[in-house]
Amino acid sequence: MANLKERIDAVRKEFDEAARRAADAKSLEELRTAYLGRKRGHVTLLFEDLKSVPAEEKREAGRLVNELKQSVTVRLDAIEGQLSSVPPAVSAAGTDLTLPGRKRYVGRPHPLTLFEEEIERIFLGMGFSIEEGPEIETDYYNFEALNFPPHHPARDKWDTLFIKGDLLLRTHTSPVQVRVMERSKPPIRIICPGRVFRRETPDPTHLPMFMQVEGLVIDEGVTFAHLKGTLEYFLRALFGEKIKVRFRPSFFPFTEPSAEVDIECLVCSGKDPACRVCGGTGWKEILGSGMVDPQVLKNVNIDPEKYSGWAFGLGIDRTAMFAYGIPEMRYFYENDLRFLRQFGTK
Ligand code: PHE
Repeated sequence: MANLKERIDAVRKEFDEAARRAADAKSLEELRTAYLGRKRGHVTLLFEDLKSVPAEEKREAGRLVNELKQSVTVRLDAIEGQLSSVPPAVSAAGTDLTLPGRKRYVGRPHPLTLFEEEIERIFLGMGFSIEEGPEIETDYYNFEALNFPPHHPARDKWDTLFIKGDLLLRTHTSPVQVRVMERSKPPIRIICPGRVFRRETPDPTHLPMFMQVEGLVIDEGVTFAHLKGTLEYFLRALFGEKIKVRFRPSFFPFTEPSAEVDIECLVCSGKDPACRVCGGTGWKEILGSGMVDPQVLKNVNIDPEKYSGWAFGLGIDRTAMFAYGIPEMRYFYENDLRFLRQFGTK
């Protein structure tokens, strides 16, 4: 019996050492066979030895051998579990697989693009389609067809960057109205987003290049009520049901009557007389609009006796500043990734 006990201890010690070296499935399998193999496993052989133990000690000896078998089995199973859950630290190609991965930066749309798409989505839902026009325009489309006679003082409101002769950088998206009306017949229901240019000194709310979206509806029986209803619906969809909107009489050579539209100041809600965004008025102008002037319809051969319509032009950058709470328009164009990465999650 003493002899058997010693052998049990020896087998246990050997096994423990061998188990520590089992690093892959193959050596684990070899280990299992060496100790638990049906004919010649070290533990199996100990059961053979039990036969020669005197009867009165058999019980105790049997218990010890069984205990060893049990602990060997548990240990082998534990190693197997570990090997299958932990991938090898170094791949066949020698790459350290335990190093944390390097995250690649995935690009995403610019905040102004996101905002423009949001505007487009709302108008597409109302049955509008999207049109585009050139950024380099002629005096005719930018001014004359829109009822600005040459040298008329109304042109001063659009401080223009001229290129050469008749060519200029468009100061608004309104020339696209004219181009669309020239090439299509009413009913017309379009929006035209795009870049526009003015001779401005950059400051937090002005830039020489910015974005507008123009809207135009021409059909029989279109009234100012349609203009109001559509713009109110649009602004509610964009800013939420509770947004306060106001229409103020204004003047544009190409619309009559004309109105500018303000939304409540989303920074101070009209509560801060010293608010830097709204100057304490509680309102912020975001778009110009009006009923298309009959003279503009005549210029594109649409009969103003039969058709009427309305148009608007909205500053995308300025409105996006409100929607996202951005205090400085120049951030949009500085290409600072710390700013840009805050928008969109795609
Ligand atoms: N084009 C005008 C602007 O840039 C806005 C406008 C568009 C006004 C359409 C009336 C109708 O200020």
